[in-house]
Amino acid sequence: MFDLSSYNTFNLTVYAQAGRVITAPEDLTQPLGGPYIILGAGSDVLFTEDFAGTVLINRIGGIELGSKVDERGAPNDLGDHILVRVGGGVLLDELIDYLLDQGICGLENLSLIPGTVGAAPIQNVGAYGVEIGTFIAQIEARDVLSGKQVILSGEQCRFGYRTSIFKEQGWSSLFITHVTFKLPLKFTPKVNYAGLQSCEFKQARALRERVIALRNEKLPNPKYVGNAGSFFKNPYVSAQVVAQLKERYEQVPCYPQSDGSFKLAAGWLIDKANCRGIKHGQVGTWGNQALVIVNLGGAKPHEVVALAKYVSAEVQNKFALDLVPEVRLYGKHGELSWDQI
Ligand code: EPU
Repeated sequence: MFDLSSYNTFNLTVYAQAGRVITAPEDLTQPLGGPYIILGAGSDVLFTEDFAGTVLINRIGGIELGSKVDERGAPNDLGDHILVRVGGGVLLDELIDYLLDQGICGLENLSLIPGTVGAAPIQNVGAYGVEIGTFIAQIEARDVLSGKQVILSGEQCRFGYRTSIFKEQGWSSLFITHVTFKLPLKFTPKVNYAGLQSCEFKQARALRERVIALRNEKLPNPKYVGNAGSFFKNPYVSAQVVAQLKERYEQVPCYPQSDGSFKLAAGWLIDKANCRGIKHGQVGTWGNQALVIVNLGGAKPHEVVALAKYVSAEVQNKFALDLVPEVRLYGKHGELSWDQI
């Protein structure tokens, strides 16, 4: 049995049948048989029970600074962008810190997001007005079922809100070995997010520090309190639904999208459904951000599931809106949908 307690930031005590730490793409040349799960830092997963298969843990390291390119990605010694190829097992926050030391910016709004570089494209992780997919030029992966290498351009990854091709059927057997970013050498602060608008940032590092402070104010540190960040995705709704909500709540946070729909804040919905800071046994929602489900110590997987179901039912009762998990759910035989748990 392979102990997964240090491979899931919910800090749940769960086991897999076997575990393999992958440190180079060549470790995946042999096609894999039997059920498997690919893990980075385990910061966006919930194991609902022990897993009867092999867990492949991405620990491929290395950061290579490549050539300078222009805005379109074409090699150009005078270009104001640079290509950076990174091993999928590198921690995203360590990468951001290192890049800033080299005068390379762009990712600072994603500071302190727990997780690895290889996992980040799968959910297209985003925070404070920036999504990682915007900066991805190329992804190298291994298909664990065939052992073959696959290379995808950023465009081919079909990045969307907390999604990408890697979550689509037929593509989930790809183990991301390297990500090549195209990053700016000139700092242009991205301050669209409400908590950043009032500040002036002369240096990328100052923006990084502000983002870290914001995250620390709102989100529990998984080192001390088990959690997987936002548990649910923010739901997209029609203008009509927003209009109805505004009749009851003038100040409802909603973000207009280019297709005419609106993104609502799941944390706000949970809060208004009186589920912020609640505790059911050893599981609860975070007092400063209701969207985060926390393990208060020694929680069991089924307790986390029960609380998540309770919260979504309360939101459904109050707003007739469905919340769908942002975290990926894994059971005995592999990935599960929300309806299966
Ligand atoms: N809100 C409440 N009560 C709460 C939580 C939020 O009223 O308990 C309100 C806030 O006041 C704000 C709105 O809801 O008006 C949105 O809250 P927040 O700015 O904290 O952002 P979010 O939409 O809840 C998203 C991401 C986070 C990311 C932040 C900042 C998702 C599912 N979550 O949260 O990502 O850090 O924006 O950009 O999109 C993660 O994915 O794990 C994650 C933490």
